[in-house]
Amino acid sequence: MSFAVLGAGYWGKNHVREYSNAGIELTVCDLDKEKLGQYEKEFGVKTITDYKELLNDEKLLGLSICTPNPTHYKFAKEFLEAGKHVLLEKPMAVSSKEARELVEIARKKGVVLTVGHIFRFNNALKKLQEMIEAGELGKINVVELAWTNLDPVYPDRDILTDLALHSFDIINFLFGKNPENIQVAGEKHRRQDNEETVFITGKIDSAVVNLAISWVIPPKKREVIVAGSERTVYVNASTQEMKVIDMKTQEEESIGVEASNPLQEEIKAFIDSASNNKGAAVAAEKGAEIIEFIETVQEKLKEQA
Ligand SMILES: NC(=O)c1ccc[n+]([C@@H]2O[C@H](COP(=O)([O-])OP(=O)(O)OC[C@H]3O[C@@H](n4cnc5c(N)ncnc54)[C@H](O)[C@@H]3O)[C@@H](O)[C@H]2O)c1
Repeated sequence: MSFAVLGAGYWGKNHVREYSNAGIELTVCDLDKEKLGQYEKEFGVKTITDYKELLNDEKLLGLSICTPNPTHYKFAKEFLEAGKHVLLEKPMAVSSKEARELVEIARKKGVVLTVGHIFRFNNALKKLQEMIEAGELGKINVVELAWTNLDPVYPDRDILTDLALHSFDIINFLFGKNPENIQVAGEKHRRQDNEETVFITGKIDSAVVNLAISWVIPPKKREVIVAGSERTVYVNASTQEMKVIDMKTQEEESIGVEASNPLQEEIKAFIDSASNNKGAAVAAEKGAEIIEFIETVQEKLKEQA
């Protein structure tokens, strides 16, 4: 049985590397013949330019779809309907309506559909999720995420889908749901069309949630803080370092977590669920829930404009 990567640009190349490292027989499909030539040499993979060949490939068990966002729905739909298992990069579609349709097609066809929500394979965040679930933090009072850095002006990127999506998914991963009753404030700064900073506040049960997302605040931060009545945990999501502060003594302790290679783990989990007919490690419904949250934030931004 073989796998494929459809769309092997900046991010798809990393998928190609991980399948190759896992010793999987792989076909790489891209429109760019020069890139394909490089991948043949670097990874010894088979390459093609017409994705339709994959649809009819009986040996193909599943594939990663890493093409540009507007094409996700179309490609995923075709491959799911052809009975192939799909690891679909984030955002799984450009609307929640399309995302829900993909979830339904996968269910009807009995194939795996999973989404590239890579932080669910970050060992520090996994540890934090376990600690929250076990009640080790006590009553959760505050959840604060900073997802900020200084980037050039992007003419065609959307800060909610390209940057913020991961922070939204981390909250959903930690608490099993999206924040409610949200308020937003955004500003376009150097752009005419799209926000470069979005601040979001909301609630998860009785906890206050605060999210700062920006392309104009150096230095780069990918920080998650969960403050509970017993313990507060701080995670640097880039380095997978974590600190725990005891709320009574205010003593601080570093927790040694072995950093994972999240993409390697994501692809291993996909290969395992596709090969053994298991449910996906990251259910596609989660992809749809996150797009619903993005749509709510977009509506709120429109209201305040
Ligand atoms: N999970 C993550 O952390 C993460 C990180 C970066 C990017 N991404 C996602 O990965 C996707 C790709 O992003 P990117 O930065 O690699 O973009 P990219 O533009 O570098 O790559 C896209 C590739 O798709 C190819 N392609 C387009 N149409 C095709 C077609 N019809 N047939 C075959 N190939 C086709 C292009 O030639 C290109 O090589 C996006 O959806 C992005 O959101 C996810």
